[in-house]
Amino acid sequence: MVLEIKKVSKNFGGLSALTDVSFSINKGEIFGLIGPNGAGKTTMFNLVTSIFPTSSGDIIFKGEKINELKPHLITEKGICRTFQNIRLFPQMTTVENVMVGVHSRSSSGVLKSVFRPKSQRQEEEGIKVKSQDLLKFVGLEGYEEVVAENLSYGQQRRLEIARAMASDPELLLLDEPAAGMNETETEDLFQLIKRIQQKGITVLLIEHDMPLVMNLCDRIAVLNFGVKIAEGTPKEIQDNPEVIEAYLGREEDELDA
Ligand SMILES: Nc1ncnc2c1ncn2[C@@H]1O[C@H](COP(=O)(O)OP(=O)(O)O)[C@@H](O)[C@H]1O
Ligand SMILES: [Mg+2]
Repeated sequence: MVLEIKKVSKNFGGLSALTDVSFSINKGEIFGLIGPNGAGKTTMFNLVTSIFPTSSGDIIFKGEKINELKPHLITEKGICRTFQNIRLFPQMTTVENVMVGVHSRSSSGVLKSVFRPKSQRQEEEGIKVKSQDLLKFVGLEGYEEVVAENLSYGQQRRLEIARAMASDPELLLLDEPAAGMNETETEDLFQLIKRIQQKGITVLLIEHDMPLVMNLCDRIAVLNFGVKIAEGTPKEIQDNPEVIEAYLGREEDELDA
């Protein structure tokens, strides 16, 4: 088991964003987290990455309770994410955006950079090479020196994934990676997430694109008003009357509202 969510609740004032949610993710799985807008999906990511504390319940990563750790320690443990609203440095180049991600887990501190300039330079070079490799991996080869804000929307989403992968996650959380993508970009994204899985990285995916979710995920949990209403294989989820009622039966534009 890579990640165990155990009876997790989160309240914002009087609002119960999540209530007693439990599920577990096996190593190497692509696990889908779906449900209508406001269901609590992003909140779950914010709890797993310790942006907010849980109100109750535990989050266990590889056997260790992590829900009281600082966010940077969560990254060090091997959990990285992308954001529903793209968070790149728009004025920096593509490769620089990835390099920032590598830096967050690299060993050189302030002292090292003062006393060991040569090893620092070598490390910089290593980080650049690694970042270029990651850009190639996500399909952004040739765009290294393009300023991030000049990339297409789909490219920016893939750049976010490259940056999240820069710190070598074991668990990657993707928050609506296909949002705003056209069909071709979504197909490329499907292949990319498959390649991520083939690297042995476990993926937790929030996504509204149902063909993508159903074709990609090994298992899926469904949230509705902060409560888990179903969990199972894509087939089980698609056939579940409560899920159809709460979510799958809706029109596309309602889902994206
Ligand atoms: N920081 C916050 N402060 C107050 N309420 C929040 C906060 N974050 C999320 N919420 C509320 O929690 C509920 C779940 O939101 P969210 O997790 O973003 O849903 P989803 O990602 O499934 O669309 C919503 O009602 C939202 O308004
Ligand atoms: Mg969300």
